[in-house]
Amino acid sequence: MTEAKSDIISALLLEERQFPAPAGFQKQAVVRDPAVYQKAAEDPEAFWASFAEELSWFQKWSQILDWKPPHAKWFVGGKINASVNCVDRWAKGALGQKAAIIWEGEPGDQKVLTYEDLYQKVNQFASALKKLGVRKGDRVAIYLPLIPEAAIAMLACARIGAIHSVVFGGFSAEALRDRINDAAAKLLITADGGWRRGAQVPLKQFADEALTNTPSIQHVIVVKRTNRDVRIQAGRDHWWHDVLEGAEPHCDPEPMDAEDMLFTLYTSGTTGKPKGIIHTTGGYLVQTYATSKWVFDLKPSDIYWCTADVGWITGHSYLVYGPLANGATIFMYEGSPDWPQKDRFWSLIERYGITIFYTAPTAIRAFMKWGSQWVDKHNLSSLRLLGSVGEPINPEAWIWYHEKIGGGRCPIVDTWWQTETGAILITPLPGLTTCKPGSATKPFPGVEAKVLNEKGEEVKEGGGLLALTKPWPSMLRGIYGDPKRYEETYWSKWSHLKNMPQNVYFAGDGCKRDKEGYFWLLGRVDDVMNISGHRISTMEVESALVDHQGVAESAVVSKKHEIKGEAIAAFVILREGVQKGEKMVQELKDHVAKKIGAIARPEDIIFTADLPKTRSGKIMRRLLKDIAAGKVLGDTTTLADSAIVQKLKEEYKEE
Ligand code: WT7
Repeated sequence: MTEAKSDIISALLLEERQFPAPAGFQKQAVVRDPAVYQKAAEDPEAFWASFAEELSWFQKWSQILDWKPPHAKWFVGGKINASVNCVDRWAKGALGQKAAIIWEGEPGDQKVLTYEDLYQKVNQFASALKKLGVRKGDRVAIYLPLIPEAAIAMLACARIGAIHSVVFGGFSAEALRDRINDAAAKLLITADGGWRRGAQVPLKQFADEALTNTPSIQHVIVVKRTNRDVRIQAGRDHWWHDVLEGAEPHCDPEPMDAEDMLFTLYTSGTTGKPKGIIHTTGGYLVQTYATSKWVFDLKPSDIYWCTADVGWITGHSYLVYGPLANGATIFMYEGSPDWPQKDRFWSLIERYGITIFYTAPTAIRAFMKWGSQWVDKHNLSSLRLLGSVGEPINPEAWIWYHEKIGGGRCPIVDTWWQTETGAILITPLPGLTTCKPGSATKPFPGVEAKVLNEKGEEVKEGGGLLALTKPWPSMLRGIYGDPKRYEETYWSKWSHLKNMPQNVYFAGDGCKRDKEGYFWLLGRVDDVMNISGHRISTMEVESALVDHQGVAESAVVSKKHEIKGEAIAAFVILREGVQKGEKMVQELKDHVAKKIGAIARPEDIIFTADLPKTRSGKIMRRLLKDIAAGKVLGDTTTLADSAIVQKLKEEYKEE
């Protein structure tokens, strides 16, 4: 048997293994009754409203759902404030002295903020924002390391009704500038720098570069994190600690309409331009609250750690809003998992007694590669539940996670969702679901998902495209400044078909269902790549490449990568007279990293004389993918000969 074949067979065997909820876990679980599915399916609106009832509203809604496809309004007429639900409720109640945020910086510094502390800081910072002229509906950009101030800034915006737009601290100056300009943000919150693998990321310097061309920005607030020298522009820039000093200690929360915007978050689509996904207040809060409670089985004594950065949707929904709306204690770590050594995460779990741990398959695969000796040095017995998100988890990684990190006793929740969905949609319930490694299992109660074929027919068993066939409270409400793109991207896949309701959401993911109806997500079917669980479009990288003066044309595809899941392979046609070679390879990789951010740095640059195109001029991406994977040619240097590219194209047959 070939090696590849035996790999496939062993993966199949792993997939067939079943893991029922451990009896001990089941006994204490928040959700134990399988009837929840049936009940929610019978009346999803009532199901969601029952969670809404558990939140604190200034005014109750008059209608649960107003659905005029593809536009949904949830909890119509309701008035609510996210910061009240995440902070005031607990600070003013019995949990004032409970830790809301436990934080460790990469250098080892620590902070604990009780709910009362968080209340004070959010109020003060909200007052400070107001004093600088920020009003309800204004956009505020946040470009920070993973420090408590990031959560405080988000919650303070929510308190006064300002719309936050968090930009991941790993993004470049240009990426920051584009996002600021797209949303016309009035104020930017950043830091002097952040820590990453013992080095400083000069955030303020990047911000200064971005701010050379951002006419909407009036003020910048700078957190002192690393103490590095930064330029402070008088009148525009203010230190975080200075603005807090003079700020009113109390700031009344703005009663927000359930459908008022809470935030935008930019994510890559199939074009070169990232889109600002719009989330509103009521529905988003209800569903992040509900899923945090049921999927993560939150209990008062938990110390919950989601390793995502606030720059991604996971950081919004499951580091900040969802768990805090449950009055949970969240743990936050600023830095890299391999700093100063490859056991940093396990040391944190041991030292802080983390009980719930939510991370990404790419991280799990890196841990596997580093070896279990790093894990074995630590006592991880505090853990009781594990989670995975961002990409399909390969069964080997699932089993390793289960055995080595979870000690065989912790259920794993493999949660499928997207920036657009706002909250988890397909997931096990840890006290109920029998898991199969590699499957996100079943839709969360109240959620209706199907696998459809191109013709819009349901595939009960087999492969197709994932579709969501009922609205859900935390669904996106649009794309900032681009309503047409919203309809086209998500709601038009099947809308041209006869007999097809106009209300089916296309997720962009391939999916297979097995005979028991389990969902197996298969990755993106569009030109979106998933690099280490982060979304990057091929077009974005292509435009960054052609922006380099030596590049005439480029085509970008992804290839399989042992740790990242997918990595970027870029085919590049250089301009006449430009030297190929290692130096140019490095230069182009650096160029893309500078234009977009380090996550977009191509793994391979392949110089080619020509790009294989169809007669209608479309790049043959399948062929490029096969070349990048070494399936077609083996030796890519021969692509320098245009006759060879031509020949490849003619001989290529899609499988
Ligand atoms: C895409 C969304 C949701 C937060 C992180 C990413 C992929 C996400 C899973 C999973 C298989 C997954 C999908 C999806 N994805 N979670 N558990 N199993 N695939 O958010 O950047 O909006 O990306 O990530 O392809 O469409 P995002």
